[in-house]
Amino acid sequence: MSNSNAERETWSTRIGFILAAVGSAVGLGNIWRFPFQVGQEGGAAFIVMYLAFVVLIGFPAMMVEFVVGRSTGLNAVGGIREFAGGAWKYLGGLFVFIGFVILSYYSVVGGWVLRYVFGSATGGYIGTAGPDEAPVAQQYFFDIASGLDALLFHALFMALVVLIVALGIKRGIELGVKIMVPAIIAIFAILAVYASTLSGAGEAYAYYLSPDLGYLIDNWKSIVPAAAGQGFFTLSLGMGVMITYASYLSEDENLGIDGGTIVAFNTGISILTGLIVFPILFSAGVSPGDPGAGAIFVSVAEALGDLQFGRAIGVLFFATVAIAALSSAVSLIEVVVSYAIDEFNVPRVRATAIIGTLIFALGIPVTIDPVMVDLYDIFAAKILLVLGGILLVTAVSWIYSDKALAELSKGIGSFSGIGTVWLWTVRVPVLVVLIISLYLGIDSFIDFLAGPFAEFLA
Ligand code: PHE
Repeated sequence: MSNSNAERETWSTRIGFILAAVGSAVGLGNIWRFPFQVGQEGGAAFIVMYLAFVVLIGFPAMMVEFVVGRSTGLNAVGGIREFAGGAWKYLGGLFVFIGFVILSYYSVVGGWVLRYVFGSATGGYIGTAGPDEAPVAQQYFFDIASGLDALLFHALFMALVVLIVALGIKRGIELGVKIMVPAIIAIFAILAVYASTLSGAGEAYAYYLSPDLGYLIDNWKSIVPAAAGQGFFTLSLGMGVMITYASYLSEDENLGIDGGTIVAFNTGISILTGLIVFPILFSAGVSPGDPGAGAIFVSVAEALGDLQFGRAIGVLFFATVAIAALSSAVSLIEVVVSYAIDEFNVPRVRATAIIGTLIFALGIPVTIDPVMVDLYDIFAAKILLVLGGILLVTAVSWIYSDKALAELSKGIGSFSGIGTVWLWTVRVPVLVVLIISLYLGIDSFIDFLAGPFAEFLA
């Protein structure tokens, strides 16, 4: 472990840490996964559950990771070993496994984004379909989402990730995020304003913003695990990423304020993305759940065909999304790479290249058909991340609570009341809800295997 400590950089400033954590949190989870979950889970009913999850479950769970990271000053694997020890050290192995699985398909979706940067430049998805043909924007997504295109761009995405990590440019990430966050907000705001002028906007806002509680009650068994999966995925929780990032923090930092800032930015960007996607889909007469994992791609492509300077905006839009995806991917692979460096004493560049290649290989089956994205994604988000969260919360809040409270109190003025509230929140309601979510998540994975996946195999 001393090995990685020697190489340790610290964030140049507090803002540096927040930027890096925001860089990890903000990514395909907000821009690709969020609108696709909203579309599949019935709109605003899902949003209500998702917001509740992020604030009441995600935020306290983030504090759990921060506490482990800052008190040990170690990465995900070393941090949990040092903080809890004993058999808990295997939890680090689970984190590494989760990082592997998530990055393998994340990179395929990241590849779609890179493909769309080029597609925007050439205008490939813009045009009018013949009478019996599918709309061009939809057909284009269908064409590039699997097969050789998907494979090549998956390779390109992984190559970029490996390059960034091998060069060890953490500072580069800080800088990238400093540009990316304002760029996302600006470009997305422009598109959201444009979307608000479309004919379907009214209907879309009703779908997206005014929750149908009856729907929520009837469908809670699928909405709850979806909200849990999305909450953990989007906040980069459940696999130790936030342990690693918090390990660079100093003790006079108020963890609660930092976490709140990260959660607020991250949630805002997701909501903004939906304000683009749904008005466009409704205006194009596409039912919101139909494009599935293609929601962001199909809707934005549809809009860009109508806009002046559509191609230029498209290049900017997808390039910004690519940066967001890369800064998240880096945080994922970093969990695996720092583990390899600590554990096997491999040099950083070699570790990164080998791990990058293995992850690329694991992602190859995902390029066969979009249904494979769902297979990996449901397993990772609704099962693995939630499981990782449950185990981590249990260790920290039940077994090592004294240490945890002592750590959390540093940097927070009058603490004891807040600390108790936090402790009992994570000990009981957070754990209960997560365990129910895991159970329902396993259920929905089984449904998926028996349904869409079995159909695909047949
Ligand atoms: N939060 C990232 C995103 O929304 C994905 C991620 C998940 C990153 C888990 C790290 C750990 O794109």
